Amino acid sequence: MQRLLTVFALGLTAITPQLYATDYTAEVTASRETAQEFMQTLKKELQAAMQEGGPVNAVSVCNLTAPAIANTYSIRNGWDVGRTSLKTRNPGNTPDAWERAVLVSFEERKRAGEDPAMMEFYEVVSQDGNQQLRYMKAIPTAPLCLACHGQQLDSIVKTRIETLYPQDQALGYKEGDIRGAFSITQPLPAARD
Ligand code: HEC
Repeated sequence: MQRLLTVFALGLTAITPQLYATDYTAEVTASRETAQEFMQTLKKELQAAMQEGGPVNAVSVCNLTAPAIANTYSIRNGWDVGRTSLKTRNPGNTPDAWERAVLVSFEERKRAGEDPAMMEFYEVVSQDGNQQLRYMKAIPTAPLCLACHGQQLDSIVKTRIETLYPQDQALGYKEGDIRGAFSITQPLPAARD
């Protein structure tokens, strides 16, 4: 019966987090903390690299360090941790159907007046018969981001990015726009429900 209730709740889940038959508070908190840590580590690395050698130098932080940090979290926890966006720079960050729907809902929530800095969404989904907790946290565009994602880029930075990312779509953002989101998939133990 509990399983039926959960399935029913999931069926209803559109945008707002649901009350599940099982309490997932601990798992959601763990995902949230990982996303926060990821964000802080990345910002620190980015700020340091920008101070040291400007945005041209900092491109390598995003190019190499961001995926490396994501990988460390994935290995540490046995999760899938990454970043995605409706307009990606790296096509490897292209959202899957679930992520795309959440990103679209974040844009709708922003239009309705919600602050992107506080925006998150999670859902328990079934993948090949296994349950997973999927979590996303919106990433707002800060002034720091505009050097590489803004409307006008320094020509050297632009060339560097174009060389590394010929399919870049992640330009033209303004402060406060949703640049993308952290996305975390956490396998759940079987037979919880
Ligand atoms: C120095 C240049 C630079 C700065 C500054 C920068 N980024 Fe990026 N950003 C990049 C590069 C390069 C990538 C591609 C990384 C990869 O290959 O995964 C990227 C990718 C991303 C992605 C992953 C989705 C995608 O488009 O592929 C997000 C989200 C993102 N950046 C957000 C931000 C935010 C938020 C800030 C400000 C806090 C920021 N970036 C500042 C260069 C930059």
